[in-house]
Amino acid sequence: MQTKQDSIFVSSDELSRQILLCQTNRELLIDRFGHTPKACTHVFGCQQNISDSQRLEGYLEQMGFEFTDNLEEADLVLYNTCAVREHAQYRALGNVGALKHWKAKRPDRIIVLCGCMVQQEHVAQRVRRSYPYVSIVFGTHVIHRFPENLYRFITTNKRIFDIPDSKGTIAEPLPVRRTGVKGWLPIMYGCNNFCTYCVVPYVRGRERSRRPEDILAEAKAMIDAGYKEITLLGQNVNSYGKTLDKPITFAQLLCMINDIPGDFIIRFMTSHPKDCTDELLVAMKKCEKVAKHLHLPVQSGSNRVLKTMNRGYTKEKYLSLIDRAKALMPDLCITADIIVGFPGETYEEFCETMDLVERVGYSALFTFIYSPRKGTPAEAMDDPVPAEDKSRWFQQLVDKQEEIAAIQTAPYLGQTLRVLCEGRKENGYYFGRTEGNILIEFFGKEEFINNFVQVTVTQALSFVLRGEVQ
Ligand code: 5AD
Ligand code: SF4
Repeated sequence: MQTKQDSIFVSSDELSRQILLCQTNRELLIDRFGHTPKACTHVFGCQQNISDSQRLEGYLEQMGFEFTDNLEEADLVLYNTCAVREHAQYRALGNVGALKHWKAKRPDRIIVLCGCMVQQEHVAQRVRRSYPYVSIVFGTHVIHRFPENLYRFITTNKRIFDIPDSKGTIAEPLPVRRTGVKGWLPIMYGCNNFCTYCVVPYVRGRERSRRPEDILAEAKAMIDAGYKEITLLGQNVNSYGKTLDKPITFAQLLCMINDIPGDFIIRFMTSHPKDCTDELLVAMKKCEKVAKHLHLPVQSGSNRVLKTMNRGYTKEKYLSLIDRAKALMPDLCITADIIVGFPGETYEEFCETMDLVERVGYSALFTFIYSPRKGTPAEAMDDPVPAEDKSRWFQQLVDKQEEIAAIQTAPYLGQTLRVLCEGRKENGYYFGRTEGNILIEFFGKEEFINNFVQVTVTQALSFVLRGEVQ
């Protein structure tokens, strides 16, 4: 029987064919380069892109690639690009520009571009015209076809552009290469919200959820492999499950993952305030493995701006959600994304955002100056405020948040917190994140890395805590 999800899934025959092509490519690549090939990959953009790149690296591994950060050693470069703001796009294209000489030095080298930036037709055309040395360009809906595209390039030496328009697919399972003990786990793809400033729904297709059994199997495999933190990913995780044949809620999924035996932390992002239910807040509180951190992008504190952004909630609704969350979880850390200088935003409206920020008491904020994206409704809106004014407002918000963060972190002084040590910084400090996702630094030893340690906070700065390991 055909179910409503079937049309979304890439067939298992197709996926097996890709895996077979990995083996064919393995031999072709040795012939081409005369040695074990090395790949240098780089991700621009969000966690979803990082997660996609891990799957592309999984394919690369199956094709016999080793990995390097040193471009000069590499035979293949893969850039996974971002489109969410102009700056990300600018950086990606700048890096591609710099590859011209790299490729000229050894014309057998291969340059692969993928991700959200090239999913936009006008950018793909620009790459076609202005970057003739790029070998393979593919979009967000055909990640699973990477082996085939590489095969076609190697065997024809013709540039490949594979960027179909699509409502979105799910390819299950794909090989994956992860390192460390913190893992990203995508639970859904795409977005249906069409916030008027945002390019994501155009480049990542409609919202679709992975089946809970596939997610659980991957989560269990990660725990068995020693992962100590799993971050569930989606553009709007609060709306998880709606497209499933047997719909379940995100809160239910969270509880299922919490029930997997083992000592690990569960995080998730991103939540959308309009779909954030009390059921989810209760599940967060109940599930002991779920970190008490809520990333709840608000974007603006002005009801008029929120409406024009098509966000689907008001300042009052957002604040009441925050009140309920804090009442349930007094230790909850809250973070958000905010856009300053949305088209037509006035200074008074910006002040509404400042007011909201103060009332919520965020532990951290991700602040962005509005960046027009081609094809979005906001791009066509009147945008009379000069860039210098927007920068000034932006700075005002950043300064305010610094004060607020200091107030938020002060109570941690003297507390002992469990922290997963992630590594060592150049300044000699070992570091990790608190349950609330606040950066914490401490002196330590090599064997702390990738393990839980108990750290007593001795200094609380606005962006970082410092402490001593017990
Ligand atoms: N300009 C500036 N910021 C944007 N974001 C998304 N689109 C834009 C844009 N056009 C921000 C939002 C979102 C975060 C991932 O990026 O704050 O939550
Ligand atoms: Fe973009 Fe809005 Fe979807 Fe987030 S919810 S990806 S901001 S359209």
